[in-house]
Formats: sequence, structure tokens, C-alpha cells
Amino acid sequence: MQQGTVITFKTQFEEEVYNGLTTFPKHLSSKYFYDAIGDKLFQDIMQMPEYYLTDAEFEIFETHKQEITDFFSKTDTPFNLIELGAGDGKKTKLLLRQLMKKKEHFSYYPIDISQNVLDGLDDSLREELPKLTVVPEQGTYFEALERIDAKDKGRKVILFLGSNIGNLLHKQAIVFLSQVQALMRKGDLFFVGLDLKKNPQTILDAYNDPTGITAAFNKNVLTRINRELGGTFELDAFMHWEVYDPETGTAKSYLVSKKEQSVTIEALDLTIDFKPWETIHTEISQKYDDATVNWLAAQSGLQVIKRYTDANKLYANYVFEKSNNP
Ligand code: AVI
Repeated sequence: MQQGTVITFKTQFEEEVYNGLTTFPKHLSSKYFYDAIGDKLFQDIMQMPEYYLTDAEFEIFETHKQEITDFFSKTDTPFNLIELGAGDGKKTKLLLRQLMKKKEHFSYYPIDISQNVLDGLDDSLREELPKLTVVPEQGTYFEALERIDAKDKGRKVILFLGSNIGNLLHKQAIVFLSQVQALMRKGDLFFVGLDLKKNPQTILDAYNDPTGITAAFNKNVLTRINRELGGTFELDAFMHWEVYDPETGTAKSYLVSKKEQSVTIEALDLTIDFKPWETIHTEISQKYDDATVNWLAAQSGLQVIKRYTDANKLYANYVFEKSNNP
């Protein structure tokens, strides 16, 4: 790419890859881990014994499903249960079953970017809970949330599970939480799963499995650049590396170049040079404590009104409502 050339990008992926790899230190966004292959690798991660997050959240739902669903329906007004990033709905089905058992008046609105995921979820729910009203909404979280709000002003209980918020820096998390808050009214609830600070070794093990599934997941961003943008990344010339800072609670994933090398990306007309052991930062997975969660809530016009945790205190689900003193 010659200096002074005006670069036009065809997609956000192209733009972010260009900007991330032509800066120092290099970085790429973890949102690009997820395509059909990445989704499957993440499913495999959730089955790994080291990846305790999924089991811990499942245990919370299993143990407290009565209390949680009572909390959702405590005002006795019908509500819309809206899930941001519904996926296969495995954990949510526990709550859905409990709500159906109690004959609560609610509709389930799973939101996902992937129509394929929504179709699968819709089919399985039709079979498992035929009486449940399911209204799948394909799109990004906010466009779908706004769409739901525009057609139905009913009370909202919004779910955001799996510590997905942990893939955002605090600053980005506050923007995200504030956007959700702006669409909430008095009586609406926001139910969020967050991974907690714990023995640092437990965290490192969860992101550094011996079978290499997490490494393959991390490298999937390079696979996508190769396939979608005509890149020449040699996957074996990079290693997955995980660090965890127990002070800030931030786990960070890197891809480290094992040698001096150059990679070209055809679609960007770009050659990138790597020095030996140079890094590409790819993901953060934030771990929380109550003080941090309360601070994030306060910064976003929310307040914590309830918290559920698993027996080993690895993980927590927090219930937020709109703050009385925004
Ligand atoms: C989706 N997200 C919450 C996962 C996490 O724990 O940060 C993604 C993941 N990355 C490596 N393993 C799992």
C-alpha cells in the first residue's frame, strides 16, 4: 500500500483487520472468531472440563430456577423475556421450562445475529415446549431490541448470559450497558451472567486447554483472514498465549509470532512484517468482583438488586434495574 493512497474498505472486517495489523502493538477483535467453524469450536470449549463458566451458570439456574423465575414474574404483570445472543438456548430452557410450569404470562424473544441459530432454537422449542410463544428476532442486539420495543411496550426481562460482557473493555461495557438501560423502563429487569475473580490458575487453565481447542478458536481469526481476504497466515508459525492479571481481573489472549515472517493480505493489498515473538492481541475475558459490577452499573444508570452464585463462587448472575438516581 503506497503512502498517501486513500484506502476504501468493502467491509468492516477489512477495515478492522487493516487498522489492527498496521498499528503497534498489533490487535484483532475476538468478534471475528465466530463463523460456522468458530461457533463449533466455541461449542467444544463449553464442553471442556477446564471451561467452568458454562457449568457454573447451569448450576445457578438449576439450583435457583424457582427463585429466579419468581423474581422475573414478581409484579404479576405479563412480560417479554428477551435474550441477547440466544445461541442454542441450553441454559435458558431451564428457566423457560420453570416459567411454563408456573403458567406465567410471557413471550420469549431470542435475538441472534445468525438466522441459522434462531431456526435451530425455534425448532427445538416447538418440540420441547410447544405451548411457549417464541418470537425469534434476527439482527444485532440493539436494532432487534428497538424493534421489539417499538411493537410491544410490555415489561421487559432482558437476559445476557455466558459472561459475554467480559469480552468488552470496561469503557465498551459501559456504553453497552447504557444502551440497554436507555431502552428499559421502571419494572424492567436486566439479568446478566458474569465470571468472577478466582484462583488465577483456574482462569488460566480455562483459556489454555491441553487439547488446543482454545488455540484453534483464537487462530480462527487468522483462518478467516486467509479464506475471506486472501491472507497467507501460516497457522503453525503462531502460538496461542494466555495471560491473567489478578489485580485487574483481565484475561488476555494473544497470538505470538514464533519467527520473523511476512504475511500478505490480497484484498487489502498489504504486507505485514512480524518480528520474532511479536504479538497480536485478540481477546479480553474480564473477571469481576461486586465492587466492579456496582461501579459498572452506576456508570450506566443501573443498579444491582439481586445476585445469584454457584456453590464454588466461580460465577454470578446479577439482576439490574434502572437506577432510581441516574
Ligand atoms: C464468549 N466468551 C464469553 C468466551 C470467554 O470466556 O471470553 C469466549 C472464549 N474465549 C476463549 N474461550 C472462550
